Amino acid sequence: MINHFITKGNYIFKEKGISPIPMMFRRELDIEKPVKKAEISATALGIYTLLLNGNVVGNQYFAPGFTSYKHTLLYQTYDITELLLSGKNSLFSVVTGGWAVGSFGFTRKNRITAKRQAFAAEITITYEDGTEEVIVTDENWLVSQNGPLKEACIYDGEVYDATVSVKDHVWQIAEKEELKIHPALIRDDRAPVQEVKELFPLSVNRVEEEYIFDFGQNFAGVISFDIIGKEGQKLLFLHSEVLRPDGTLQRDFLRTAKARVEYTCKEGQQSFSPRHTYMGFRYVSVRGLEKEQVDSFCLKAKVLTSATQRNGEFSCDNDKINRLQQNILWGATSNLFEIPTDCPQRDERMGWTGDIAVFAQTACYNFKMEKFLKKWLRDMRSEQKKTGGIPNTIPSQGYGFPETMPTMAVDFWGDACIMVPYALYMAYGDEQVLEENYEMMKAYANASKRWAAFASVGTKRYIWDTFHLLHFGDWVAPDVDNMSQWQKRSPWTATASLYHTTSLLAKIATILHKREDAKAYDAYSKKVGEAYLKHFTDGEGKLLEEFQTAYVLPIYFGIFDEKTKKKAAANLAELVKKNNYCIGTGFPGTPYILFALADNGFADVAYKMLLNTNCPSWLYEVKMGATTIWERWDGLDEKGNCPIGDDGTDTMISYNHYASGAVGAFFYRRILGLEPLEAGYKTFMVKPILGGDLHEAKGRVDTPFGTISVSWKLGDEFEIQLEVPKETSCELELPDGSKEQLFEGIHKRKIKLTEVNYER
Ligand code: BGC
Repeated sequence: MINHFITKGNYIFKEKGISPIPMMFRRELDIEKPVKKAEISATALGIYTLLLNGNVVGNQYFAPGFTSYKHTLLYQTYDITELLLSGKNSLFSVVTGGWAVGSFGFTRKNRITAKRQAFAAEITITYEDGTEEVIVTDENWLVSQNGPLKEACIYDGEVYDATVSVKDHVWQIAEKEELKIHPALIRDDRAPVQEVKELFPLSVNRVEEEYIFDFGQNFAGVISFDIIGKEGQKLLFLHSEVLRPDGTLQRDFLRTAKARVEYTCKEGQQSFSPRHTYMGFRYVSVRGLEKEQVDSFCLKAKVLTSATQRNGEFSCDNDKINRLQQNILWGATSNLFEIPTDCPQRDERMGWTGDIAVFAQTACYNFKMEKFLKKWLRDMRSEQKKTGGIPNTIPSQGYGFPETMPTMAVDFWGDACIMVPYALYMAYGDEQVLEENYEMMKAYANASKRWAAFASVGTKRYIWDTFHLLHFGDWVAPDVDNMSQWQKRSPWTATASLYHTTSLLAKIATILHKREDAKAYDAYSKKVGEAYLKHFTDGEGKLLEEFQTAYVLPIYFGIFDEKTKKKAAANLAELVKKNNYCIGTGFPGTPYILFALADNGFADVAYKMLLNTNCPSWLYEVKMGATTIWERWDGLDEKGNCPIGDDGTDTMISYNHYASGAVGAFFYRRILGLEPLEAGYKTFMVKPILGGDLHEAKGRVDTPFGTISVSWKLGDEFEIQLEVPKETSCELELPDGSKEQLFEGIHKRKIKLTEVNYER
């Protein structure tokens, strides 16, 4: 049990808004006999990095990981047999504030979990002679706070003084720490953040005193550099996602995040890369570099992410769509980072539930998400309120906004507790994820039902319009001007969400053989559907108050019967045309708008919308040179200025938010045409929807049964090739409407298409 926590006993950390001074723990190890095996297990409140004889132990960042610390604290076990020397060994652990003690959340709270850092480790050495030695964290360890790492903070970056050497430390005896929390200690089962790629700057520009490096790609990670420095020379590295039109860094949108590295050089050759912070950036400005150093100075960047393994691939013969797919991947890489974050750059980087609720399916197509999301769902389960509500950020880290909001239930954001497990289940076929989360889903759905019915009578009890300003509504919808207008749309989004979550829950209950529940949620969802129809439409598929999301949700979720759905889709198509094929949806509608159109006879409108390059649209961002997905459709105007003014969001502008990249699921499910009919693709469909002048698409998805690959080409004929894994079956529907069932093997089909059915 690794629970012998130590700390620097006389450190009192009370300053608001910042992170604590890093601590460095030290233990000398004498190895006098041949070692068979040596392991170290470690954890911390804060973030730790272990250094054994100058070598970093392990290859992960941000250990012990970001969890709901009150409930769960992870520990890691590393094999250090190869790193141990016979004789003297020096083991160091650098422990910074991280999420547990450091400043986090846009209110910049700190000491959320502990009043200062604490570290615990256990070293087990098995000698060749069969004896074993166990060394734990106790008063035989030393601690100092005047090492080279002067500051480390998730948002603010690092301050490092390379002139400080080990002998400059003032070491004192470490003391036992009593924690105020009692989390379960669990062996690390998360998807740790790791370096997946090294980037090199594409260009460097000198603007007055700064050198501005462009990595050509927005991403989450850290810089690394080599320099022949001068003793005491100070370097400042600032990060940003975009430049101002004058070529300098635009850092206003980082809000309070300093996103910087301050480095004091020692004499001679040296290199550095932070390990206890990260930034979301494309550009880095370097100050303090002398002219003659520029040539030998080498700046690189490390791309960091928890999404280290791909699960699928998609490409087609339209370069802009391919770039959009790349942007979706980069958005995911940047935000699947310990937890599913909203963005990687400003003073948030929080586990906003709504963002992953809408993005989970796309994430599962592209990356292996099971480990990452199952761990996060455990955090969610432990933070669910007694009322059934789910905090809007998981881990919530004391963030409420206001406290009443998570205590209630919040549509789409809270829906993550049902949508995320269901997306995992459909992609990977593991029923356990439904089982594990079932009670949480039920408690949340019941809370949503209760709040919808609050102070209402008759069929109004199924319209969820309670305290609508405590919902996010049609968040970031570009067709209205400000935050409160997004929120005012919550009666529509929340009622559709209530239908969606309860009907999904009915399906899930059926899968888990909970018949009574299935019946009850199904009956309830039908009442919600009827209420949507009655209160928001003329009963004939026309909304009384029209906006894109209010059509998309009931069409896609299946609220309308076939006839009404067709009419509603026609009205949506009309609305989209009137809007010049521009997007008008916020988070809730964006993932589904193309499906709502393409599945109901308006594939042409869906493709026009997808291929539109006028603002707001997905490809407008691509046209403007975006390398990730923006949070706001109108994040930059044609001149490269940010046009967003005071809209109640406190300049909420990020250029790396994955949410609207949820369109990526359409690429797989409709362009490629591949989607599971049964969980884990036991049976699946391949039915490409042609249009948008696309002549080629190809891709693959890994399933528990093996890889499914699909590629099609449209020339004089339509040709398709697909690979069906063993023990699965595929329902293939070709663009001429012909259908067949296929089993294991590689299949090729070729058909002639007439003008008419090509347009289908
Ligand atoms: C975040 C969003 C989030 C939202 C909810 C924002 O500040 O960046 O992505 O879901 O708040 O209100």
